[in-house]
Amino acid sequence: MIIHLLSKHSVLFIVLPLLIIAGYYRIFSDKTADYYDARSRNLTDATIGTDMELETSRPCTHALFREFYTKYKHLPGHGRWIRKEDQLYFQPKICKFKFDIMENSGEALRQCLSHSNVSHIVTMGDSNAGRHYVTMYEAFRSFGRKTCRTIDTEDLAEGGFLPDKNYFTKSDKNWTEFIQIHYRYCRTCKSSRHLCHLTYANQTRDIRFQHVAMTMVMDDSIQLHVPDFRRGSGLLEDVFAITSQQFIFRYYLADDYPDVIIIFLPFNHAKRLALEITAAEIEYFHALAKYYLPTYTKIFYMPTPSEFERSRLASVWINRTYDRGMLATEMIDELNQKLFHVLFDDLTTDSGRVFAFLDLLKISQDREDWSEDGVHMDWI
Ligand SMILES: *[C@@H]1O[C@H](CO)[C@@H](O)[C@H](O)[C@H]1NC(C)=O
Ligand SMILES: *[C@@H]1O[C@H](CO)[C@@H](O)[C@H](O)[C@H]1NC(C)=O
Ligand SMILES: *[C@@H]1O[C@H](CO)[C@@H](O)[C@H](O)[C@H]1NC(C)=O
Ligand SMILES: *[C@@H]1O[C@H](CO)[C@@H](O)[C@H](O)[C@H]1NC(C)=O
Ligand SMILES: *[C@@H]1O[C@H](CO)[C@@H](O)[C@H](O)[C@H]1NC(C)=O
Repeated sequence: MIIHLLSKHSVLFIVLPLLIIAGYYRIFSDKTADYYDARSRNLTDATIGTDMELETSRPCTHALFREFYTKYKHLPGHGRWIRKEDQLYFQPKICKFKFDIMENSGEALRQCLSHSNVSHIVTMGDSNAGRHYVTMYEAFRSFGRKTCRTIDTEDLAEGGFLPDKNYFTKSDKNWTEFIQIHYRYCRTCKSSRHLCHLTYANQTRDIRFQHVAMTMVMDDSIQLHVPDFRRGSGLLEDVFAITSQQFIFRYYLADDYPDVIIIFLPFNHAKRLALEITAAEIEYFHALAKYYLPTYTKIFYMPTPSEFERSRLASVWINRTYDRGMLATEMIDELNQKLFHVLFDDLTTDSGRVFAFLDLLKISQDREDWSEDGVHMDWI
């Protein structure tokens, strides 16, 4: 599987989650000597302008990204696709990733997890997010001495549209009859859980991976309401979630919150709504995430890549316009910018909690050749 993945040209989708994790590793290894601290350097226009300079020796760090966000008020999108042997990878303009992406993404991930305390990683999002998840998990699973297994996968009903109530019911809680499910409007959005044993330095550690399917920024495909009479004496405690996102943050992940959560807001779906509606939902979503996730959980937001009109499989979808006459990619670009705007204060203070990445829409625009159907990248 991994050989297949790596032999394809879609390194963007193979490595990005790994890079994030590697970035995360940086948080815990700030004192290591082979990095130098970006904060002590000035980011000048000469090094971050449109004029492409491949030779940068600055390592990618959160401090450096933060400095960029603060100064330029947008995600970094400059860089260049580089061909190495028959594969392509993206070299951002502002910094260099420490490891050789092409050589060993699984090994890079192993090292980063070995050196950090990360043992539970959750991704959240639609079918594209699901592909990132599979890539990350497979890259990790396929390298070195470790054993991995699937714990559970959502068993979708009604042609794949109905979420699996049992999957979301916790074994220690009798919630099954109180969870209400509705259509998720995405038959390729499926949650799953995996467990790996990572062996390093004569130690073995469990690493848990989990993907939580989500098709809209806010939606009601999973709801929970446990009536008072089922809560014994604890009548005052409200067990109630009217959106899937409340349910996931408040109940589903509770007691076992992840060390890292990588959120791919599903803008390929949300593009169909009015801009203001999704903008408000993004704010609400982020407020929920910050309110319910414990402060030790690192929250990464990944912007949505480009869509491609010419790659769509049915002509009825080509050049379709959405709110204010925008094409899909224009709409997604707006939504990515709204997201950045919502996150701005958190991204530009050193909270150690909220992180973003490169402007994936911008850097993916040159990769129409990878587009499978206008929305998904062809790699699996
Ligand atoms: C990892 O966890 C251990 C035990 O909880 C703690 O002592 C150590 O400081 C942590 N390391 C990092 C880098 O956070
Ligand atoms: C950064 O730039 C400012 C203004 O140009 C200058 O005063 C300062 O010394 C520079 N700092 C470093 C570390 O180069
Ligand atoms: C769940 O229901 C079973 C059977 O009704 C009961 O024995 C058990 O105590 C309940 N568990 C909880 C956590 O309420
Ligand atoms: C692992 O165990 C072997 C044999 O007991 C020992 O020689 C080696 O130093 C250990 N390595 C580490 C990193 O602890
Ligand atoms: C879509 O729009 C582009 C740019 O305006 C145009 O060249 C193309 O012919 C259109 N395609 C269809 C199927 O309408």
